[in-house]
Amino acid sequence: MKRWRNAWRFLPLLSVIALTLTGCGNEQLTTLLPKGEGSEMQFNLMMLSLYIMIGVFVVVALIYTIVLVRFRRRGESDNEIPEQTEGNVVLEILWTVVPIILLLILAVPTVMATFALDEGTEKVPEGATVVKVTAHQYWWEFEYPDLGVKTAQDLYIPSGERVYFELASKDVLHSFWVPTLGGKMDTNTATVNKMWLNAQEPGTYYGKCAELCGPAHALMDFKVIAQEKEDFEAWAESMKEASSQASTDQAAQGEEIFANSCIGCHAVGADGGNTGPNLTNFGDREKVAGILDHTDENIKAWIAKPSEFKPGNNMPAFEDQLNDEELNALVVYLNGLKVEE
Ligand code: CUA
Repeated sequence: MKRWRNAWRFLPLLSVIALTLTGCGNEQLTTLLPKGEGSEMQFNLMMLSLYIMIGVFVVVALIYTIVLVRFRRRGESDNEIPEQTEGNVVLEILWTVVPIILLLILAVPTVMATFALDEGTEKVPEGATVVKVTAHQYWWEFEYPDLGVKTAQDLYIPSGERVYFELASKDVLHSFWVPTLGGKMDTNTATVNKMWLNAQEPGTYYGKCAELCGPAHALMDFKVIAQEKEDFEAWAESMKEASSQASTDQAAQGEEIFANSCIGCHAVGADGGNTGPNLTNFGDREKVAGILDHTDENIKAWIAKPSEFKPGNNMPAFEDQLNDEELNALVVYLNGLKVEE
């Protein structure tokens, strides 16, 4: 009895652990609240196997309890040895056939979903949007070959239809994952992997790199912005027309700094290098470098010392090359890079 009283002491501890773990969820980063066609298929498979597991557990626990109660030893005098039998044809058939049926119930939908999730990736249906995804340490490049548009970090897609992805990597293994929409799929350097995603509703969904790829792996975030088809098409149009015309003196100073220090790696529109994220619509982005809130201070801090925020990333620190006035001008210019109203 005393032992049991002591065991109760662990209850508050377990409660605190359970309560803490409930805080680990993020509505935009969970597979349990699917918002896409693919993630819903995957979620249904998970629930099917969960129901089967619960069913098996309940039956086994029930039989176990019945046997424990019914066949327990009753007092000192209960020394009778039960009848010894070997083999029972009915039971043997039952425990062979039942698991086979359960496995079939699991296997058929799983195989069907596996093929459905790959449907159309080899021969993309006419008119569908195709996005080439290139993973870099530690950012994401998105190219729309049919639309002639390139962007980074924020992936714009039309909602309510399947969007087809061609996934590759520039450096090491990464993995493209948007938990609420579906996934995940590795990005390799030598081969191209293919998949589709279908966001059922317009909205912003969070994406992550799901393959350990270096010190800043956990910070390799991106966003998926799903819009109605016409909004998406308007976005693609304005991306094509985007120009980097500075409207104020400060922005013009920023543009000059950009042209001298940044354009070798970062493109705006069609001009610029390809080793860093494309910044054509930088001003529209909710995050700086995919992880920091979009504030002037954060942009300056990032440019000054990028590796403080994403250890091991390839962007050089500019703290010794640009003074505060120059950084401010650069921020004004960068924030002016918008394609959305
Ligand atoms: Cu890229 Cu982890």
